[in-house]
Amino acid sequence: MVRTAIVGTGFYVPERVVTNEELTRQMDTSDEWIVERSGIRERRWVDEGMSGAEMAHRASVMALAEAGLEPSTVDAIVLATLSPDHFFPGTGVFLQRELGLEGIPALDVRTQCTGFVYGLSVADAWIRSGQYRTILLVGVEIQSTGIDVSTRGRDIAVLFGDGAGAVVLTATEEEDRGILSTHLHADGRYAEVLWAEFASSKHHPRITPELLAEGRHYPTMQGREVFKHAVSRMPEAVEEALTANGLTTADLRLLIPHQANLRITQMVQRRLGLTDDQVVSNIDRYGNTTAATIPIALAESVRAGRLTSGDLLCMVAFGSGFTWGSALVRW
Ligand SMILES: CC(C)(COP(=O)(O)OP(=O)(O)OC[C@H]1O[C@@H](n2cnc3c(N)ncnc32)[C@H](O)[C@@H]1OP(=O)(O)O)[C@@H](O)C(=O)NCCC(=O)NCCS
Repeated sequence: MVRTAIVGTGFYVPERVVTNEELTRQMDTSDEWIVERSGIRERRWVDEGMSGAEMAHRASVMALAEAGLEPSTVDAIVLATLSPDHFFPGTGVFLQRELGLEGIPALDVRTQCTGFVYGLSVADAWIRSGQYRTILLVGVEIQSTGIDVSTRGRDIAVLFGDGAGAVVLTATEEEDRGILSTHLHADGRYAEVLWAEFASSKHHPRITPELLAEGRHYPTMQGREVFKHAVSRMPEAVEEALTANGLTTADLRLLIPHQANLRITQMVQRRLGLTDDQVVSNIDRYGNTTAATIPIALAESVRAGRLTSGDLLCMVAFGSGFTWGSALVRW
Protein backbone atom coordinates (compact mmCIF):
# COMPACT_ATOMS: atom_id res chain seq x y z
CA MET A 1 0.00 0.00 0.00
CA VAL A 2 1.29 3.47 -0.86
CA ARG A 3 1.49 5.97 1.97
CA THR A 4 2.79 9.54 2.22
CA ALA A 5 6.01 10.07 4.17
CA ILE A 6 7.40 13.38 5.39
CA VAL A 7 11.02 13.17 4.24
CA GLY A 8 12.19 16.75 4.72
CA THR A 9 11.33 19.78 6.88
CA GLY A 10 12.47 23.39 6.76
CA PHE A 11 11.57 26.84 8.00
CA TYR A 12 12.44 30.47 7.69
CA VAL A 13 11.60 33.36 10.00
CA PRO A 14 12.51 37.01 9.34
CA GLU A 15 15.59 38.33 11.10
CA ARG A 16 13.78 41.25 12.71
CA VAL A 17 12.78 40.38 16.29
CA VAL A 18 9.88 42.45 17.66
CA THR A 19 9.67 42.26 21.44
CA ASN A 20 6.64 43.02 23.57
CA GLU A 21 8.54 46.05 24.86
CA GLU A 22 8.82 47.39 21.30
CA LEU A 23 5.04 47.09 20.90
CA THR A 24 4.46 49.13 24.06
CA ARG A 25 5.99 52.06 22.18
CA GLN A 26 3.32 51.78 19.46
CA MET A 27 0.18 50.98 21.44
CA ASP A 28 -1.27 50.89 24.93
CA THR A 29 -0.19 47.42 26.04
CA SER A 30 2.36 45.81 28.35
CA ASP A 31 4.73 42.88 28.40
CA GLU A 32 2.82 41.47 31.42
CA TRP A 33 -0.55 41.59 29.62
CA ILE A 34 0.79 39.92 26.49
CA VAL A 35 2.76 37.20 28.32
CA GLU A 36 -0.07 36.41 30.74
CA ARG A 37 -2.79 36.23 28.07
CA SER A 38 -0.83 34.62 25.24
CA GLY A 39 2.62 33.40 26.35
CA ILE A 40 4.20 35.47 23.55
CA ARG A 41 7.47 37.27 24.35
CA GLU A 42 8.58 38.19 20.84
CA ARG A 43 7.68 37.61 17.20
CA ARG A 44 9.42 38.07 13.84
CA TRP A 45 8.20 40.71 11.42
CA VAL A 46 9.46 41.16 7.86
CA ASP A 47 11.41 44.18 6.68
CA GLU A 48 10.37 46.01 3.52
CA GLY A 49 11.22 43.91 0.47
CA MET A 50 10.76 40.43 1.96
CA SER A 51 7.89 38.54 0.29
CA GLY A 52 5.92 35.47 1.26
CA ALA A 53 7.27 33.71 -1.84
CA GLU A 54 10.85 34.44 -0.77
CA MET A 55 10.26 33.13 2.77
CA ALA A 56 8.52 30.07 1.30
CA HIS A 57 11.49 29.58 -1.02
CA ARG A 58 14.01 29.65 1.84
CA ALA A 59 11.97 27.17 3.89
CA SER A 60 11.57 24.92 0.83
CA VAL A 61 15.28 24.90 0.04
CA MET A 62 15.97 23.75 3.62
CA ALA A 63 13.30 21.03 3.42
CA LEU A 64 14.58 19.74 0.07
CA ALA A 65 18.17 19.68 1.41
CA GLU A 66 17.05 17.67 4.45
CA ALA A 67 15.23 15.27 2.13
CA GLY A 68 18.33 15.02 -0.06
CA LEU A 69 16.21 15.83 -3.12
CA GLU A 70 16.74 18.21 -6.02
CA PRO A 71 13.90 20.71 -6.67
CA SER A 72 13.41 19.02 -10.06
CA THR A 73 12.00 15.93 -8.29
CA VAL A 74 8.97 17.92 -7.04
CA ASP A 75 5.79 17.01 -8.93
CA ALA A 76 3.44 19.56 -7.34
CA ILE A 77 3.37 22.51 -4.92
CA VAL A 78 0.68 23.08 -2.31
CA LEU A 79 0.97 26.40 -0.48
CA ALA A 80 -1.21 27.48 2.44
CA THR A 81 -1.57 31.16 3.30
CA LEU A 82 -4.17 33.74 4.32
CA SER A 83 -1.79 36.55 3.39
CA PRO A 84 -0.87 36.00 -0.27
CA ASP A 85 1.69 38.38 -1.73
CA HIS A 86 -1.04 39.52 -4.15
CA PHE A 87 -4.82 39.16 -4.31
CA PHE A 88 -4.10 36.99 -7.36
CA PRO A 89 -2.34 34.93 -8.58
CA GLY A 90 -1.62 32.87 -5.49
CA THR A 91 1.79 32.76 -3.83
CA GLY A 92 2.26 29.15 -5.03
CA VAL A 93 3.16 30.23 -8.57
CA PHE A 94 5.72 32.76 -7.30
CA LEU A 95 7.35 30.01 -5.23
CA GLN A 96 7.27 27.72 -8.26
CA ARG A 97 9.04 30.41 -10.31
CA GLU A 98 11.70 30.89 -7.59
CA LEU A 99 12.36 27.15 -7.64
CA GLY A 100 12.52 27.06 -11.45
CA LEU A 101 9.78 24.43 -11.69
CA GLU A 102 7.72 25.83 -14.55
CA GLY A 103 4.93 23.52 -15.60
CA ILE A 104 4.15 21.68 -12.38
CA PRO A 105 0.87 22.51 -10.62
CA ALA A 106 0.81 25.08 -7.79
CA LEU A 107 -2.25 25.08 -5.55
CA ASP A 108 -2.95 27.77 -2.94
CA VAL A 109 -4.97 26.65 0.09
CA ARG A 110 -6.99 29.27 1.97
CA THR A 111 -8.09 27.81 5.26
CA GLN A 112 -6.20 30.18 7.55
CA CYS A 113 -4.62 28.59 10.64
CA THR A 114 -5.76 25.16 9.46
CA GLY A 115 -4.20 25.66 6.03
CA PHE A 116 -1.25 23.38 6.58
CA VAL A 117 -3.43 20.48 7.77
CA TYR A 118 -5.84 20.95 4.84
CA GLY A 119 -2.86 21.09 2.47
CA LEU A 120 -1.41 17.94 4.00
CA SER A 121 -4.71 16.14 3.47
CA VAL A 122 -4.89 17.16 -0.21
CA ALA A 123 -1.24 16.26 -0.85
CA ASP A 124 -1.68 12.91 0.92
CA ALA A 125 -4.69 12.07 -1.24
CA TRP A 126 -2.79 12.99 -4.42
CA ILE A 127 0.14 10.80 -3.43
CA ARG A 128 -1.95 7.81 -2.32
CA SER A 129 -3.99 7.98 -5.55
CA GLY A 130 -0.77 7.82 -7.56
CA GLN A 131 -1.32 11.20 -9.24
CA TYR A 132 1.92 12.69 -7.88
CA ARG A 133 4.89 11.10 -6.14
CA THR A 134 6.71 14.06 -4.53
CA ILE A 135 4.94 17.17 -3.24
CA LEU A 136 6.29 20.33 -1.64
CA LEU A 137 3.88 21.63 1.00
CA VAL A 138 4.45 25.09 2.46
CA GLY A 139 2.73 27.26 5.04
CA VAL A 140 3.73 30.92 4.82
CA GLU A 141 2.42 34.09 6.36
CA ILE A 142 3.11 37.81 6.46
CA GLN A 143 0.77 39.13 9.12
CA SER A 144 2.73 42.22 10.13
CA THR A 145 1.85 44.30 7.06
CA GLY A 146 -1.89 43.63 7.53
CA ILE A 147 -2.48 44.39 11.20
CA ASP A 148 -3.39 47.59 12.97
CA VAL A 149 -0.30 48.39 15.04
CA SER A 150 -2.08 50.93 17.23
CA THR A 151 -4.17 50.71 20.41
CA ARG A 152 -7.27 50.21 18.24
CA GLY A 153 -5.90 46.90 16.92
CA ARG A 154 -3.93 45.75 19.97
CA ASP A 155 -5.96 42.60 20.67
CA ILE A 156 -4.81 41.16 17.32
CA ALA A 157 -1.53 43.03 16.73
CA VAL A 158 0.28 41.51 19.70
CA LEU A 159 -0.59 37.94 18.73
CA PHE A 160 0.62 37.55 15.15
CA GLY A 161 4.00 37.01 13.50
CA ASP A 162 5.55 36.24 10.13
CA GLY A 163 7.33 33.12 8.90
CA ALA A 164 7.33 30.06 6.67
CA GLY A 165 7.57 26.31 7.13
CA ALA A 166 7.87 23.58 4.49
CA VAL A 167 7.76 19.82 4.20
CA VAL A 168 8.67 17.47 1.38
CA LEU A 169 6.22 14.59 0.99
CA THR A 170 6.93 11.45 -1.01
CA ALA A 171 5.23 8.16 -1.73
CA THR A 172 6.53 5.25 0.34
CA GLU A 173 5.76 1.55 0.24
CA GLU A 174 7.30 1.04 3.69
CA GLU A 175 4.96 -0.69 6.16
CA ASP A 176 3.75 1.39 9.09
CA ARG A 177 5.36 4.67 8.08
CA GLY A 178 3.85 7.96 6.96
CA ILE A 179 0.51 9.72 7.23
CA LEU A 180 -2.04 7.40 8.86
CA SER A 181 -5.06 9.69 8.41
CA THR A 182 -6.24 13.30 8.21
CA HIS A 183 -9.48 14.76 9.56
CA LEU A 184 -10.89 18.07 8.32
CA HIS A 185 -13.74 20.27 9.55
CA ALA A 186 -15.28 23.70 9.01
CA ASP A 187 -18.21 25.68 10.36
CA GLY A 188 -19.03 28.80 8.35
CA ARG A 189 -21.59 29.99 10.89
CA TYR A 190 -18.61 31.56 12.64
CA ALA A 191 -17.00 33.14 9.55
CA GLU A 192 -17.24 36.70 10.89
CA VAL A 193 -15.85 35.89 14.36
CA LEU A 194 -12.29 36.18 13.02
CA TRP A 195 -12.05 37.78 9.60
CA ALA A 196 -10.84 40.59 7.36
CA GLU A 197 -14.00 42.16 5.94
CA PHE A 198 -12.40 44.55 3.41
CA ALA A 199 -11.18 44.80 0.67
CA SER A 200 -14.16 42.78 -0.49
CA SER A 201 -15.04 41.84 -4.06
CA LYS A 202 -18.74 41.82 -3.20
CA HIS A 203 -18.59 45.61 -2.66
CA HIS A 204 -18.43 48.29 -5.39
CA PRO A 205 -15.73 49.51 -5.02
CA ARG A 206 -13.94 46.90 -2.97
CA ILE A 207 -12.72 49.52 -0.52
CA THR A 208 -13.13 53.28 -0.12
CA PRO A 209 -10.90 55.97 1.45
CA GLU A 210 -13.50 56.26 4.24
CA LEU A 211 -13.32 52.53 5.04
CA LEU A 212 -9.53 52.73 5.00
CA ALA A 213 -9.60 55.69 7.38
CA GLU A 214 -11.83 53.67 9.73
CA GLY A 215 -9.35 50.78 9.59
CA ARG A 216 -11.97 48.42 8.18
CA HIS A 217 -9.31 46.63 6.10
CA TYR A 218 -7.74 45.26 9.29
CA PRO A 219 -8.78 41.87 10.67
CA THR A 220 -11.18 41.75 13.61
CA MET A 221 -11.61 39.00 16.17
CA GLN A 222 -13.95 38.08 18.99
CA GLY A 223 -11.11 36.65 21.07
CA ARG A 224 -13.15 34.88 23.73
CA GLU A 225 -15.37 33.15 21.17
CA VAL A 226 -12.31 31.92 19.27
CA PHE A 227 -10.72 30.73 22.51
CA LYS A 228 -13.83 28.82 23.60
CA HIS A 229 -14.14 26.90 20.33
CA ALA A 230 -10.41 26.26 19.93
CA VAL A 231 -10.08 24.53 23.30
CA SER A 232 -12.87 22.07 22.44
CA ARG A 233 -12.32 21.51 18.74
CA MET A 234 -8.59 20.79 18.95
CA PRO A 235 -8.83 18.00 21.57
CA GLU A 236 -11.84 16.56 19.68
CA ALA A 237 -9.83 16.43 16.45
CA VAL A 238 -6.89 14.72 18.20
CA GLU A 239 -9.23 12.11 19.73
CA GLU A 240 -10.89 11.62 16.34
CA ALA A 241 -7.54 10.85 14.68
CA LEU A 242 -6.41 8.50 17.45
CA THR A 243 -9.74 6.64 17.55
CA ALA A 244 -9.76 6.22 13.75
CA ASN A 245 -6.46 4.36 14.06
CA GLY A 246 -7.21 2.37 17.22
CA LEU A 247 -4.66 4.40 19.22
CA THR A 248 -4.74 6.46 22.43
CA THR A 249 -2.98 9.54 23.80
CA ALA A 250 -0.52 7.20 25.56
CA ASP A 251 0.76 6.19 22.11
CA LEU A 252 1.58 9.79 21.16
CA ARG A 253 5.22 10.79 21.10
CA LEU A 254 4.49 14.35 20.03
CA LEU A 255 1.52 16.67 19.59
CA ILE A 256 2.15 19.76 17.48
CA PRO A 257 -0.81 22.04 18.03
CA HIS A 258 -1.34 25.20 16.01
CA GLN A 259 0.45 27.93 17.96
CA ALA A 260 -2.42 30.37 18.58
CA ASN A 261 -1.94 31.11 22.23
CA LEU A 262 -0.06 29.38 25.05
CA ARG A 263 -3.21 29.25 27.20
CA ILE A 264 -5.05 27.41 24.42
CA THR A 265 -2.16 24.93 24.07
CA GLN A 266 -2.08 24.36 27.83
CA MET A 267 -5.82 23.74 27.97
CA VAL A 268 -5.64 21.32 25.02
CA GLN A 269 -2.78 19.51 26.76
CA ARG A 270 -4.74 19.27 30.02
CA ARG A 271 -7.90 18.04 28.31
CA LEU A 272 -5.94 15.30 26.57
CA GLY A 273 -3.90 14.42 29.69
CA LEU A 274 -0.55 14.88 27.92
CA THR A 275 2.82 15.63 29.53
CA ASP A 276 4.92 18.72 28.70
CA ASP A 277 7.33 16.42 26.90
CA GLN A 278 4.56 15.34 24.51
CA VAL A 279 3.50 18.85 23.45
CA VAL A 280 5.40 21.36 21.32
CA SER A 281 5.28 25.08 22.04
CA ASN A 282 7.34 27.82 20.42
CA ILE A 283 4.78 30.64 20.59
CA ASP A 284 6.98 32.59 23.03
CA ARG A 285 9.44 33.26 20.16
CA TYR A 286 7.20 33.56 17.08
CA GLY A 287 3.62 34.37 18.11
CA ASN A 288 0.89 33.02 15.85
CA THR A 289 2.22 32.62 12.30
CA THR A 290 -1.09 31.14 11.10
CA ALA A 291 -0.55 28.53 8.33
CA ALA A 292 3.19 28.50 9.06
CA THR A 293 3.03 27.57 12.75
CA ILE A 294 2.80 23.79 12.42
CA PRO A 295 5.55 23.32 9.78
CA ILE A 296 7.86 25.71 11.68
CA ALA A 297 7.27 23.80 14.92
CA LEU A 298 7.74 20.50 13.10
CA ALA A 299 11.05 21.58 11.55
CA GLU A 300 12.27 22.78 14.95
CA SER A 301 11.17 19.53 16.63
CA VAL A 302 13.07 17.47 14.08
CA ARG A 303 16.20 19.56 14.66
CA ALA A 304 15.80 19.23 18.44
CA GLY A 305 15.72 15.43 18.10
CA ARG A 306 12.16 15.19 19.42
CA LEU A 307 11.08 12.72 16.70
CA THR A 308 12.71 9.44 15.79
CA SER A 309 11.69 6.73 13.39
CA GLY A 310 8.51 4.95 14.47
CA ASP A 311 7.27 7.78 16.74
CA LEU A 312 3.61 8.74 16.59
CA LEU A 313 3.06 12.42 15.74
CA CYS A 314 -0.23 14.29 15.78
CA MET A 315 -0.70 17.75 14.28
CA VAL A 316 -3.86 19.70 15.08
CA ALA A 317 -5.10 23.14 14.09
CA PHE A 318 -7.99 25.53 14.61
CA GLY A 319 -8.64 28.91 13.07
CA SER A 320 -10.70 31.42 11.16
CA GLY A 321 -13.64 30.00 9.24
CA PHE A 322 -13.98 28.33 11.67
CA THR A 323 -11.81 25.56 10.29
CA TRP A 324 -10.06 22.82 12.20
CA GLY A 325 -8.45 19.46 11.61
CA SER A 326 -5.82 16.92 12.58
CA ALA A 327 -3.30 14.58 11.02
CA LEU A 328 -1.71 11.48 12.51
CA VAL A 329 1.71 10.43 11.27
CA ARG A 330 3.99 7.46 11.98
CA TRP A 331 7.43 9.10 11.73
C1 LIG B 1 -7.23 37.76 22.54
C2 LIG B 1 -7.16 37.25 23.98
C3 LIG B 1 -5.72 37.09 24.38
C4 LIG B 1 -7.81 38.33 24.86
O1 LIG B 1 -7.85 37.87 26.18
P1 LIG B 1 -9.19 38.01 27.05
O2 LIG B 1 -8.89 37.50 28.40
O3 LIG B 1 -10.28 37.33 26.30
O4 LIG B 1 -9.36 39.54 27.11
P2 LIG B 1 -10.56 40.45 26.61
O5 LIG B 1 -10.72 40.37 25.12
O6 LIG B 1 -11.75 40.14 27.46
O7 LIG B 1 -10.00 41.86 26.95
C5 LIG B 1 -9.71 42.23 28.26
C6 LIG B 1 -9.24 43.67 28.26
O8 LIG B 1 -7.91 43.73 27.72
C7 LIG B 1 -7.85 44.74 26.71
N1 LIG B 1 -6.85 44.38 25.71
C8 LIG B 1 -7.00 43.75 24.54
N2 LIG B 1 -5.81 43.63 23.93
C9 LIG B 1 -4.90 44.17 24.75
C10 LIG B 1 -3.50 44.32 24.67
N3 LIG B 1 -2.79 43.89 23.61
N4 LIG B 1 -2.86 44.92 25.68
C11 LIG B 1 -3.54 45.36 26.75
N5 LIG B 1 -4.87 45.24 26.88
C12 LIG B 1 -5.53 44.65 25.88
C13 LIG B 1 -9.24 44.77 26.16
O9 LIG B 1 -9.47 46.01 25.52
C14 LIG B 1 -10.08 44.57 27.38
O10 LIG B 1 -10.19 45.80 28.05
P3 LIG B 1 -11.59 46.23 28.75
O11 LIG B 1 -11.84 45.17 29.79
O12 LIG B 1 -11.26 47.58 29.31
O13 LIG B 1 -12.58 46.22 27.64
C15 LIG B 1 -7.94 35.93 24.15
O14 LIG B 1 -9.31 36.13 23.98
C16 LIG B 1 -7.48 34.88 23.19
O15 LIG B 1 -6.38 34.39 23.29
N6 LIG B 1 -8.35 34.46 22.24
C17 LIG B 1 -7.96 33.55 21.20
C18 LIG B 1 -7.26 34.33 20.14
C19 LIG B 1 -6.61 33.47 19.12
O16 LIG B 1 -5.95 32.53 19.44
N7 LIG B 1 -6.81 33.80 17.85
C20 LIG B 1 -6.22 33.13 16.76
C21 LIG B 1 -6.91 31.83 16.58
S1 LIG B 1 -6.21 30.96 15.26
